[in-house]
Amino acid sequence: MAAAILDGKGLAERIRERLALEALEFRVKSGIVPGLSVVLVGDDPASRVYVRNKQNAVAAAGMHGDVVRLPVETSQADLLKLIDDLNADPAVHGILVQLPLPRQIDSRAVIERIDPLKDVDGFHPSNFGLLAQGNPRFVPCTPLGIIELLKDAEIETRGARVVVLGRSQVVGKPVALLLLQKGKGADATVTVCHTGTKDPAAIAREADIVIAAMGQPERVTADWIKPWAVVIDVGIHRKADGKLCGDVDFAGVSQVASRITPVPGGVGPMTVAMLLSNTLRAARLAAGVDDPHEEG
Ligand code: GUN
Repeated sequence: MAAAILDGKGLAERIRERLALEALEFRVKSGIVPGLSVVLVGDDPASRVYVRNKQNAVAAAGMHGDVVRLPVETSQADLLKLIDDLNADPAVHGILVQLPLPRQIDSRAVIERIDPLKDVDGFHPSNFGLLAQGNPRFVPCTPLGIIELLKDAEIETRGARVVVLGRSQVVGKPVALLLLQKGKGADATVTVCHTGTKDPAAIAREADIVIAAMGQPERVTADWIKPWAVVIDVGIHRKADGKLCGDVDFAGVSQVASRITPVPGGVGPMTVAMLLSNTLRAARLAAGVDDPHEEG
């Protein structure tokens, strides 16, 4: 029996349409156009594609998008100065510095320099801390997108055993924190596996929901998955034949799982939709307007 597809692309389109309407309503009421500045340092081909996708999505939602492109040899001091300028610019509500950054730049210092109220990536320690305390403000986009996908598909997380494969700041840790929270789309029993974990396949096999975010092409094979489990694939890699794949061996795992996200068309589009959501939220916060989607 083949698994049903969790259609992130379709859900992301619906969310983007809703956000475009909300952004319009906000603009009519406040006169403010939500603005996102994306900073891209260097010319990593994958980062360029991601940044272009984000820029197109922002424009399509009726928000203002700016991309600041800096050469690969940019100094840390120059990048920090740019962030200071963006922090001070009232037309910029959200700031996203595309990662990874070139070697000479300390990513942590850059992330910490971003005004936490403009940190639409949710990577600033104060936003990460609020999430860890169960009182989130800006939540990283990919984890937020995963939770929205699960909620939309009415996949029960309360009491579910969730195994997160990977402990990155961008996905693994924050998605685990979200699932640990109280409330809808959370209340799960969460285990995080990482490079120090012994026999991650055996642990994953106990899960009702597996979230694969280890960054290794097709590492998760059918024998890692309990029959009928739900599988969320966060990875994206280009294979030697030019095709894209995730961290999950889709052909094998889809024979065992009940539901699975495809690559592409699963988690990736949800990340972009959540960036728009965070940008609108940042503009609302700056304007002192309550967020209608705030669930407290
Ligand atoms: N690089 C890969 N994913 C992300 C992300 O979510 N945010 C940023 N800033 N860079 C990334």
